[in-house]
Amino acid sequence: MKFLLEERAARPGVALLTLNRPKELNALNLELMQEIKESLQALDKDDSVRVIVLAGNEKAFAAGADIKQMAGRNSVDMLKIDQFSTWDQIRKTKKPIIAAVSGFALGGGCELSMLCDMIIASETAKFGQPEIKIGVMPGAGGTQRLTKALGKAKAMELVLTGDFLSATEAEKHGLVNKVVPVEFYLTEALNLAEKISKMSPLAASLAKEAVNRSFETFLDEGLHFERKNFYLLFDSEDQKEGMNAFIEKRPPKFTGK
Ligand code: CAA
Repeated sequence: MKFLLEERAARPGVALLTLNRPKELNALNLELMQEIKESLQALDKDDSVRVIVLAGNEKAFAAGADIKQMAGRNSVDMLKIDQFSTWDQIRKTKKPIIAAVSGFALGGGCELSMLCDMIIASETAKFGQPEIKIGVMPGAGGTQRLTKALGKAKAMELVLTGDFLSATEAEKHGLVNKVVPVEFYLTEALNLAEKISKMSPLAASLAKEAVNRSFETFLDEGLHFERKNFYLLFDSEDQKEGMNAFIEKRPPKFTGK
C-alpha cells in the first residue's frame, strides 16, 4: 500500500493501521481512503484480528479530505466520483476500530476519527470541521456525528466558525474516550484494543452493531442529506475561491455566489 501502513501490534488480536502521508498532514485523498477500505475489509475477514487501531502521527491524525484533489471539481464530478461511498463501506466494518488521535483531526480527519468506534487522544489533539473556511461544509458525517457527540449548540459553533476543539474540551463533551500525554496516546489505544480483543469477538461485533443501531436510522438519512449539500457546493464560486485560496496560501474573498 502506498499511503497506509499495516502491522500487527505486538499484542495478539490487535492490528495497527497508520495513515502515512506525513508531508500532507495525512490529507485523505481517494487512494488513501480506498486503501483504508480494502485493509479494513481484509482485517474483518482475518480471524487472528479482533480489534483494529487506526492512527496518524504525532502532528496529524488527518487534516481533512485532500483539498488539492477536490479544488477543480464541480458538483457533477462530485456526484459521479461519489467519494463518500468508500466511507459507507468502511462503516460496515464489523470489528471494533479505535482511533488514536494526535495533532490535527480536521474536516474529513475529524469525521474519520468519529467513524471509528472509540477515540483515544493525545493532549495535543485538535478536532474541528473547518470546511466553512474554504467555502464548503462537512461532507463525511461531520454535521451528523459531531452533533450527536457534542449537542447542537457546540456542533453548530464548530461547523459555522471552523474553530478547533482541544483534546480536553473534546473529552469534556464526550467526543473522545480518554486524553493522555502525547507519548502515550498510541500505547493507550493499543491497551484498550488488547483489553477488548480478549472478549468474545462475536459478542463484540454484535454489541458494536447494536450500539451503532441506536442512532443509525437517523444517521443514514442525515448522511445522505449532508452529502448532497456538500456535492452541491462544488457548483459555487465560493468553493473555487476557498479551495484555491488555501492552495495559494492567501485569505479567501467570499461573494456568496
Ligand atoms: N488537503 C491537501 N493538502 C493539505 C491539507 C488538505 N486537507 N491539509 C494540509 N495540506 C498540505 C498543505 O497544503 C501543505 O502542503 P505544502 O507543503 O505542499 O504547501 C502541507 O500539507 C502542510 O500544511 P501547512 O503548511 O498548511 O501546515 P500548518 O501547520 O501551517 O497548518 C493546518 C496546518 C491548520 C492543518 C492547515 O494545513 C490547514 O488548514 N489544512 C486544511 C484543513 C481543512 O480545511 N480541512 C478540511 C478539508 S475539506 C474536507 O475534509 C471535506 C470533508 O468533509 C470530507
